[in-house]
Amino acid sequence: MVTRCPLIIGNWKMHCTRAETEHLLSAVLAQLSLPPEREVAVAPPFTALETAARLLAGSAIRLAAQNLHWEPQGAFTGEISGPMLKELGCTYVIIGHSERRQYCGETDAQIARKVRAAQRAGLVPVICVGETLEEREQGATLAVIRRQVRGALQDQAPLAIASLVIAYEPVWAIGTGRTATPSQAQAVHEAIRNLLAELSNSETANTTRILYGGSVKPDNIDSLMAEADIDGALVGGASLQADSFVRIATFR
Ligand code: PGA
Repeated sequence: MVTRCPLIIGNWKMHCTRAETEHLLSAVLAQLSLPPEREVAVAPPFTALETAARLLAGSAIRLAAQNLHWEPQGAFTGEISGPMLKELGCTYVIIGHSERRQYCGETDAQIARKVRAAQRAGLVPVICVGETLEEREQGATLAVIRRQVRGALQDQAPLAIASLVIAYEPVWAIGTGRTATPSQAQAVHEAIRNLLAELSNSETANTTRILYGGSVKPDNIDSLMAEADIDGALVGGASLQADSFVRIATFR
């Protein structure tokens, strides 16, 4: 039997100045006592990464970034590269979040390049996929998810799939207070794992962590985590309050 270390990541999005970062992380550090065999990370905005790294030094909480560029350096005004994030102490980088697909026009091909750039920089990609409400109502959920996962993983060596993280985030559940039920989420997670097995092999696919995201809160985390293929959570709104993030990170 494979055991996958549960992973909870707080995605702060465009929230928190450096002063607010100090305030929030100090409260999280004061309250969080992490059970063994569990990983927790926070993804502040780029401007607060250094502040967060300083506060988290010596703690068990890891640092994540919310995006990166696919080139290591160059004439790309306003962009941030993998080596820059690595230097700041990031372990993870979120790639292809639905807000970036929607508002910044990110494509599967760009996401695949970013995944490779993250790996080259020694960062663990957290690849976001998810269907819109319209796609779900049309019965297209699994087709959309398969296209996005295949798109992001094009050119991946089968074995490299084991060390990536996938986050299933139905777009209709993000920031809406409307969570997928545990069984709705489990059905998609299982389909993703089956696809990963097609792209590599079942042993590799059983090692890859698949997180759920979309209105994860203290009152639904336990039932989500009880599902066989849900290996953690990508938490937006509820990660901005220390007590709710700590409760989610210490799910039962
Ligand atoms: P939410 O966001 O928890 O506020 O729904 C999740 C995400 O976008 O990662």
